[in-house]
Amino acid sequence: MKIRTSSLAELKKKGIRFAALTSYDMHTAGIFDAAGIEVLLVGDSASDNVLANQGTAPITLDEMIPFGRAVARSAKNSLVVIDLPFGSYEIDAEQALVSSIRAMKETGAAAVKLEGAKIDQISRIVESGIPVMGHVGFTPQTVHALAGFKVQGRDKKNAERITNECLDIEKAGAFAVVLEMIPAALAKEISERLQIPTIGIGAGSDCDGQILVWQDFAGLSEKTPGFAKNYLSLRDALHSAAATYRLEVQTGNFPPADKQF
Ligand code: KIV
Repeated sequence: MKIRTSSLAELKKKGIRFAALTSYDMHTAGIFDAAGIEVLLVGDSASDNVLANQGTAPITLDEMIPFGRAVARSAKNSLVVIDLPFGSYEIDAEQALVSSIRAMKETGAAAVKLEGAKIDQISRIVESGIPVMGHVGFTPQTVHALAGFKVQGRDKKNAERITNECLDIEKAGAFAVVLEMIPAALAKEISERLQIPTIGIGAGSDCDGQILVWQDFAGLSEKTPGFAKNYLSLRDALHSAAATYRLEVQTGNFPPADKQF
């Protein structure tokens, strides 16, 4: 079944949780789609998980587009959402709309995501017919302003601020909101107050959906964040396979006779 933004709202109404993973290429997109993952996010986490940058801020819209195109072409049913990278939407609503149109037109994604309570930007993009996913709590693009990788909303004042941001984002017309690295109790309260689905990452088990960066989920990352779980050990598996291949090449065992013309 093709997942649309309305499908996520229906799942929330029925109390059925959904799963999201990041993806930046055709193989993971095809595999995760076939496994029934409801949402594929072409995250700006491609910056530090694919392009070897420090953090997400350096990646550009030009660099995001080929990742988005590969994922959108390869996913049959998952809802494909593409991140607006840092610098492509902050100036004003006009800039955000131009970037969103480019991201949609040049990739085939079904929605865009942007960080922070950028209400004018969200309203303008939604008004022009592009679905928007919000993202609050810890927002990696502005890590320097947040004094590093820290759980957000631990105190009452900041918890209230994050809750109000979510309510404003919902009012502006977003179809879902990512809650990143906030206390589980706060994420639960926000999820109960919002009509739109919440998608948690380091935000406890009471969000309507969960998202992980696929390299963390698959155990490919060198370091996995504390809130993530490795569902396999891809890093070890690849290391061991590469070492075996090298040895077989050195000893003349690859290619074997049945793989030669
Ligand atoms: O870019 C990304 O991977 C994200 C998720 C962490 C939600 O924004």
